[in-house]
Amino acid sequence: MTDQPPVAAPAKPTPSDAVAAPATPPTLPPVIRTTTMPADTNPSGDIFGGWLMWQMDLAATSVANQRSHGRCVTAAVDGMAFLRPVHVGDEVTLYADCISVGRTSMKITVEAWRRPRESDAMDKVTEATFVSVAVDAAGKPRPVDPV
Ligand SMILES: CC(C)(COP(=O)(O)OP(=O)(O)OC[C@H]1O[C@@H](n2cnc3c(N)ncnc32)[C@H](O)[C@@H]1OP(=O)(O)O)[C@@H](O)C(=O)NCCC(=O)NCCS
Repeated sequence: MTDQPPVAAPAKPTPSDAVAAPATPPTLPPVIRTTTMPADTNPSGDIFGGWLMWQMDLAATSVANQRSHGRCVTAAVDGMAFLRPVHVGDEVTLYADCISVGRTSMKITVEAWRRPRESDAMDKVTEATFVSVAVDAAGKPRPVDPV
């Protein structure tokens, strides 16, 4: 038996590898573009995560309303990760896309990107998948046209 040199084990992926932000935003037209204001901050002075979730919910629901031609409610949000802080005065752009349609529900992916006022570069700050359900006037699920 010959002595073999020790082989280094491959590096384990870290959580930050799993959420590494891509360099360019989606090519879709944005659903929302807005500028963050001092009233949207948390006690540390960064933009409050709840404000970002609100904008993402608005973007997802806008796409769901359009896809289903009517009222929708958010049933679930999966896999939300906050990748970067957002600062007052940053421009925040929301991209949303309907990736699948069930009988009454739709899966909508939403990405939020920030651009500091003094820069042309955009960073992805968060993403999530929303489940929106089309509902009738009584709030009961209604079918979504599959095509
Ligand atoms: C969403 C809601 C209309 C679903 O009503 P329901 O009577 O449970 O309806 P169903 O069980 O038939 O589900 C309807 C669809 O939603 C999907 N769904 C419901 N809850 C879900 C969940 N937690 N995750 C993923 N999908 C869900 C079902 O899979 C189904 O999809 P499909 O028709 O495409 O197969 C009802 O739960 C509701 O009104 N929730 C409150 C919504 C709301 O107020 N959102 C804002 C919160 S601040």
